[in-house]
Amino acid sequence: MTATIDFGSLGLIGQSACMRRLCERLARVSRFRANVLVLGESGTGKEVVARALHACGPNAQHLFVPLNCAAVARDIVENELFGHEKGAFTGANERKRGLFELADGGTLFLDEIGEMELSTQAKLLRVLERNEFRRVGGAGKIRVDVNVIAASNSDLERAISVGRFRTDLFYRLKVVTLVVPSLRERRDDIPGLVDHFVADFNRRHGPHLTGVSPRALRRLVEHDWPGNVRELKNAVESAAIFATGSRIQLAEVNDVLESARLVARDAPREKGAPAPSAGSTLAEVERRLVLDAVERSATKAEAARALGIGLRTLYSKLNEYRRAEE
Ligand SMILES: Nc1ncnc2c1ncn2[C@@H]1O[C@H](COP(=O)(O)OP(=O)(O)OP(=O)(O)O)[C@@H](O)[C@H]1O
Ligand SMILES: [Mg+2]
Repeated sequence: MTATIDFGSLGLIGQSACMRRLCERLARVSRFRANVLVLGESGTGKEVVARALHACGPNAQHLFVPLNCAAVARDIVENELFGHEKGAFTGANERKRGLFELADGGTLFLDEIGEMELSTQAKLLRVLERNEFRRVGGAGKIRVDVNVIAASNSDLERAISVGRFRTDLFYRLKVVTLVVPSLRERRDDIPGLVDHFVADFNRRHGPHLTGVSPRALRRLVEHDWPGNVRELKNAVESAAIFATGSRIQLAEVNDVLESARLVARDAPREKGAPAPSAGSTLAEVERRLVLDAVERSATKAEAARALGIGLRTLYSKLNEYRRAEE
């Protein structure tokens, strides 16, 4: 069974021992519509894993519906999940179906589940237990058959211990847990990923590049990649843009890694004006600063306070960054 799944064609590249183990577990789990919790650092490929789980499962012909709980303002999450009836609140001029209805028969992917508010967690738990829910402002119950895959890069057990995440929901969600290893724990995957991203670059921009020089590849394999596969992907793309020959050379990789390091270093650790650095625009410095604050804070509200901006502004910035990455 496992051998028949071509994970590469599902966008999941990785032949290292730990990725092969993960794919074996994934293939097994995908046969059952179990709730799965996908854990791993930011950028490790949790969404890629969730999509692969859906794509090789028995309900692949139904929708895979993603919701990023951190990128959507908290008061909007429930409206997104459950939809609303016409007239449920000011401005609700039409009935709106929620994501649970859209995902009926398929998969609902709840990314960054640790950011979900406690009251929404309670409602989610109820849907998972009863397979039914009400639209906001609605009286009738709606039955659905939805497989939920949740993902988190934060320490959910810590969130539980400080009362920010419900224990009962945690156990409901983690019938099976899949942990996606960080990229530095599977450096053997880097050459394959680099090939994949170069091929992707050629597909999108025309066949410019034949690959990466051996020295450039060694540098890429040795780098620590705190932002994991996402950071590697961005680095390969930047180096591809600046490549002067048919292959990406060491100097081009060094330039990209160096400017990433400068931006990271110049982003102040505390609230304050970011210092612009060589090779970085103000927007890039701001982005670093915002993401850094989010990473260091327990909640988005705390990050917004540290940055001295409103919570809504923070969400809209995060949305913007996410769209730019897609
Ligand atoms: N194994 C992989 N093979 C190919 N591409 C990958 C792999 N893992 C991740 N990527 C790519 O890296 C980027 C980040 O992946 P993804 O969005 O799944 O990470 P994530 O763990 O959900 O990150 P976050 O915690 O920030 O939400 C995407 O562009 C994805 O296509
Ligand atoms: Mg994600």
